[in-house]
Amino acid sequence: MKSSLVIGNWKSNGSLSGNRVLLDAVASGVPAGVRCAVCVPYPYLAQVGEILEDSAIAFGSQDVSEYGYGAYTGEVNAEMLAEFGCRFVIVGHSERRSLFDESDETVARKAGAVLDANMVPVVCVGETLAQRDAGEVHSVLQQQLDALDTVRGASRLAGLVVAYEPVWAIGTGRTPTPEQVQDALGFVRAWFAARIDDADAVDVLYGGSVKAGNAAELFALPDSDGGLIGGASLVADEFVAICAAAV
Ligand code: G3P
Repeated sequence: MKSSLVIGNWKSNGSLSGNRVLLDAVASGVPAGVRCAVCVPYPYLAQVGEILEDSAIAFGSQDVSEYGYGAYTGEVNAEMLAEFGCRFVIVGHSERRSLFDESDETVARKAGAVLDANMVPVVCVGETLAQRDAGEVHSVLQQQLDALDTVRGASRLAGLVVAYEPVWAIGTGRTPTPEQVQDALGFVRAWFAARIDDADAVDVLYGGSVKAGNAAELFALPDSDGGLIGGASLVADEFVAICAAAV
């Protein structure tokens, strides 16, 4: 029985002075029996790696270039992130898909670059409220996941993580019902089961307004392997409580 995975997505937050206080509390509070990581803004990777060096908490980034080394001004490539000790890289977060117009194919190429650099891509998928209201949840997830197969090939996706994050639940305090979450997690699991031998090897997470008060119910769902946590990951006690709910 694999342990649950809880990843904190700091988004565009943090400070050199505050990071150490937060991470010392998280590293000392997270119980054994849960895999935990934090994904931080690029400028903090060196500091976070040094702070977490002797802890069980892994770390990573929130994006990556689809390109490698070369004339790509401003880009941060996967090999660089691996050099800093990143284990996880979030790709295709809905905020990047919407604010920076990232296509399903771009996200798939980023996931491939992360896998090729021997790190773990956390591929975010999920529907908008309009798509849910239109009954399009499965078709949205299908399209987002199919790009992984089209671009990289399902047989080369071993080792990645998928985070189902309904866009309308991110930062809103709203979450789908447990039945709705399980339906989406189960759809993701079934997508992999139809294409790879061991679909259970893929970690399928839920993200979107996960808090200490709802984490246990969400993590107990049949196809849940854990969570991707935004705002609550910036509050040590809350994030530790969420991790404890995943044990
Ligand atoms: O990537 C996780 C994030 O999108 C969820 O944010 O604040 O609703 O937990 P939040």
